Amino acid sequence: MERITIAIDGFSSTGKSTVAKRLAKALGYIYVDSGAMYRVVTLYAMQHNFINKSSFDEDGLVADLNKIHISFQFNDHLGFAEVYLNGTNVEKQIRTLEVSQFVSQIATVSEVRQQLVKQQQQMGVDKGVVMDGRDIGTVVFPNAELKLFMTASAETRAQRRYDELLERGDEVTYEDVLNNVQTRDRIDSTREDSPLTMAKDAIKIDNSNMDLEQQFEYIYQLTRDRISQVSK
Ligand code: CDP
Repeated sequence: MERITIAIDGFSSTGKSTVAKRLAKALGYIYVDSGAMYRVVTLYAMQHNFINKSSFDEDGLVADLNKIHISFQFNDHLGFAEVYLNGTNVEKQIRTLEVSQFVSQIATVSEVRQQLVKQQQQMGVDKGVVMDGRDIGTVVFPNAELKLFMTASAETRAQRRYDELLERGDEVTYEDVLNNVQTRDRIDSTREDSPLTMAKDAIKIDNSNMDLEQQFEYIYQLTRDRISQVSK
């Protein structure tokens, strides 16, 4: 069987990473969370005070990009790869609402995107990869054999993310999470460099009314069909 490249794009909190992780496991592929990479750069920018509620020193961050080393290490216990910033595990720190509130602004910076896209393409060079994000089917892997575009209503997505954050023990309100989901959708879809759009050859999946199991079964079937077509 041929190994293919699977690109999963879509709006925030559509469950892309949950399905992508499971799919990669079922196929024996690697999974790459491209959003985690933008979140790591954001965490670095916050730690070095390049960004805060009132200002953003874009030039300062760009000058420091060569000091940001991002890596993934598989955690056998958790069953997925955790992300590291300059050798420190930052998996938990990058998922806070605070990081979410700055990440879309960081992701508008072309120099940041160029650097991360290069690394992402490198990770997928041997195929057998499932990558999720905003520009995977359009920019990172325009030739991916399978492209999915996931969407759901903003309220459904905010509720899912709110539950996740509460589960982690974060103190957040549903209103703040909904506001963040909507703000990021707007910034991600309207930025100049690589805006979030559906690739022409992507399959759109609205999962507002699908549970995780139904969604996985549906996507797994699409994947198997595509792999057998490509292998003919
Ligand atoms: O919250 P969610 O898991 O949906 O988002 P994420 O995948 O962690 O991505 C966080 C943010 O990074 C997005 O809102 C985008 O601003 C940015 N991003 C991007 O610009 N391009 C990507 N390929 C992935 C993420």
